[in-house]
Formats: sequence, structure tokens, C-alpha cells
Amino acid sequence: MKKIKISIIGSGYVGLVTGACLSEMGHEVICLDSNNKKINSIRKYKAPFFEPSLNDLIKKNIIKKQFYITSDISFAVKNTQITFICVGTPSLKNGSIDLSQILEVSEQIGSLLKYKREKQLLIVKSTVIPGTTEKYVEKIIQKYTKNFSIASNPEFLRQGSAVKDFMQPDRIVIGCKENETKKIFRKLYYKFKEKLFYTTIINSELIKYTSNYFLATMISFSNEIANICEKVENTDVTEILNCIHLDKRISPNFKNKNQFPEITNYLKAGGGFGGSCLPKDTKALKFFSKKNNVKVPLLDSVIAINNDRTKIIANKIKQVLKKKKRIILVGITFKKGTDDLRDSPSLKLLKELLKYNFKIEIYDEMYKKKPKNDLFNNCNFINNLQHSVKKTDCIVVATETKVINNLNINSSKKIILFDTRNCIDKKVISENFILYSIGRINSI
Ligand SMILES: NC(=O)c1ccc[n+]([C@@H]2O[C@H](COP(=O)([O-])OP(=O)(O)OC[C@H]3O[C@@H](n4cnc5c(N)ncnc54)[C@H](O)[C@@H]3O)[C@@H](O)[C@H]2O)c1
Repeated sequence: MKKIKISIIGSGYVGLVTGACLSEMGHEVICLDSNNKKINSIRKYKAPFFEPSLNDLIKKNIIKKQFYITSDISFAVKNTQITFICVGTPSLKNGSIDLSQILEVSEQIGSLLKYKREKQLLIVKSTVIPGTTEKYVEKIIQKYTKNFSIASNPEFLRQGSAVKDFMQPDRIVIGCKENETKKIFRKLYYKFKEKLFYTTIINSELIKYTSNYFLATMISFSNEIANICEKVENTDVTEILNCIHLDKRISPNFKNKNQFPEITNYLKAGGGFGGSCLPKDTKALKFFSKKNNVKVPLLDSVIAINNDRTKIIANKIKQVLKKKKRIILVGITFKKGTDDLRDSPSLKLLKELLKYNFKIEIYDEMYKKKPKNDLFNNCNFINNLQHSVKKTDCIVVATETKVINNLNINSSKKIILFDTRNCIDKKVISENFILYSIGRINSI
């Protein structure tokens, strides 16, 4: 293995995980961020967000002097051969992506490369609309120097299992133009040579959007079946989709046993997709398609079904609760295993429920204290669910969890349990719960 010196611009979920994992693979990594609070936290071996085993990797590789964190972009770019761009590409109001962070760092990198003799490889890892890498990043840097090459290498990690996903990739998509660049990638990802998928830069950018569009489609498809089941007596979406999973084209048979691939997790009904990627990327692809005069009725529907999701669920909760008022909402993160609240369906649901004037308390294992957000102004955060459950009318499970399984209710009181993620098994919870879930008319 030949050690490569790498700089990473933007040390958020993608940049920090990429940096920590590449340093763990033996490369020398300088991570950079413009946010000093994040830098100080990383220096103390603590990622500014929760991600399993990430802190251990950071600590180990800082001590081994294979991982550095800085705010000095000149130091980072000058001392490395490869630079990854991992800054944010958030949504603008019209659905397109905000390229300002990408454009800013491209200018900064270009102005530094102007004075560098060695050739630099620049890799765009942020999710960017097809054409961005060549039309913007490459063009900006060409104003300063011709002594660089450019590539696209989108990221497919999932929050909550980001380190594992990075270290056990299913494919590493690389869009580049020169054989020389491919050679560098083989050295960079020397552990995963058989997983490298080379393509054009624009294909690489579009693969990322197509992948997220596909996942979002599975989710909206499942939720649409749930909507049908909620109007038709004696149907149950969970049973129906579980049967779809058994199709051997989805779950192949091995030694007479079905192997359920992870894609079946997306073929489940629930509260809709959220987080920092699926909502943003589907909207951006829609905007991009319209700009190119392409009609995308399927994508329009995938987004519309998801947008309606929380209203439908809140309305159902209201109908079930009738005049009862007290709710404990369990889970505010966009999915289990992360502390990320960006575009969380749980927060959208909370907003809808507050419109009905419910008195809402919140429990989330990741948040013992109330995070800053106006939405929580009139909600208490509770730490002891077992204690608080006695005083409530209803628990709404907004993010997948198992905490409900351990609750004892030693009274004759019946409590409504509304499972918006279809993650609760009736057999393992207290008999005092009346369980409602998604994609069926009545309680189970
Ligand atoms: N989060 C995910 O699960 C995920 C997965 C795949 C792809 N992506 C894509 O990766 C990109 C980054 O996403 P993220 O979730 O890591 O975002 P993030 O907001 O967590 O991280 C971006 C980081 O860039 C830093 N930054 C912004 N401008 C900078 C500058 N000029 N110089 C230095 N640092 C700067 C910010 O301070 C922030 O820490 C996005 O395009 C996203 O769509 C995200």
C-alpha cells in the first residue's frame, strides 16, 4: 500500500467519515472545516454528530498522526496530492441545490493551486446536479491553473452505519477522464479494487440522484399501498408488503431460506422519507429534469406522496384520539441510529399534531435536553419514559425504536400506542396498549 496525502474540504457527515476511514486505511488525511466549534470538538476526538465507531477512528488516527483537523485551507491543499470537496449542497426554495459552498471552495482551491508545482487531483464527493463538476468546479479552477485533474466520486454511506458503509462498499462510483486518474483511485481505494465502477463524470453525478430517487420511490410506493389499506376493511399493509418481500426476484432463495436484502427495508410503510438526502435530492432531480424540458410524473408523485404523509398520519391520530389530549411523541430524529434532525418526518408530524392543540411531551434517547428549535417551545422533553407513560393518553412512535417493548403499565388504564413506523410487535408490548399502526383501519 502506498500512502497518499489527502485533504478533505468540509468535515460534516460525509467529509469526516471519509477522512477518518481513509486515515484508518493508512493514508494521511487533513480534514478541514470552516466551523471552529466542529474543529475544536474533533480535536478532542469527538465528532460533532453521533455516528457509531467514528470517535474511535478519529482518536486512533490523530494519535497515529495520520489524521489532522484544521481551518487552514492553504495548509490542507498545499500539503496533499488529492483534495475531496465534501461541503453541503442544501436545497433552495425552488428545489434546486444551493451551489454557493461548492463555488466558494472551488475559488479557494483554484487560487491555492495557482502557486503549486505538483499536479492535484480534485474529487467532488458532495452530491451535485449533473454537469456541476465540469461546468462549474473545473471551469473555476481552470481560471487559475491547468495543472490539475478532476473527478466525481459520490458518496452512498447511510447515517447510522456510515463507517461500516464506507469500509464495506457495494460500489465506488468514479467519474473521470484520464487513465492516470483511474490509477490514483486504485491506490486510494486499494482495499476495494473490485468495487470500483468507472464512468463519465456526468454519469457519476446522475447515478447518485438515480440511486436516491429509486430508494425514495420504494418508500412512496409502500406508503401509497398503505393509503389504500387505510380505506379498505380487513387489509393490512404490513402483511401485504411482507409477502411482496418473499418474491424470489427480491429475496432469493438460498438453501430453502429466503435471504432478505436490505432493500426490503425501503419496501415498508411508515412516516415517509426524510433526512438530509432523499427529500433534497428528489427535489433537485425534479428541478433539473424540468430545466431540461423532461416531464417526470413518477418523480412528481414520489415527492407528492411523501409531502402528504405526515398530514395523513396526524389526521388519523386525531381521529383515534377523539377528545383525548396528552401525547408522548417518541423519536425526533429522521431515522434510528442518528441524531440528525434535518428534514425529519418526526418533526413534520410534531408540527401537524401541534395544530390540533395536543399537549405533547417528547422522548428521544439521543436528546436528553431540548435542542434549539422553535417547534419545541411548548413541548417538554422527558428523560424517564416509564414514569411519564402513566400520565399520558397516547404514545406516538415517530422514529423507529424498541423502547416501548420495555414499558410496564401496572394499572388498568389503557393507553393508545400509535406506531407511525410499523416497527412495534404487538406480542412483545404490554397488554395495556391499544396498538394502531400504518396501513390498516383499526387497532390490532
Ligand atoms: N449526510 C449524508 O448521509 C450524505 C450521504 C451522501 C451524500 N451526501 C452529500 O454530501 C454533501 C455533504 O453532506 P453532509 O451531510 O456531510 O453535510 P454537512 O452539512 O454535515 O457538512 C458540510 C460541512 O462543510 C463545511 N463547510 C461549508 N463551507 C465550507 C468551506 N468554505 N470551507 C470548509 N468547510 C466548509 C460545513 O461547516 C460542514 O461542516 C452534500 O452534498 C450531501 O448531499 C450526504
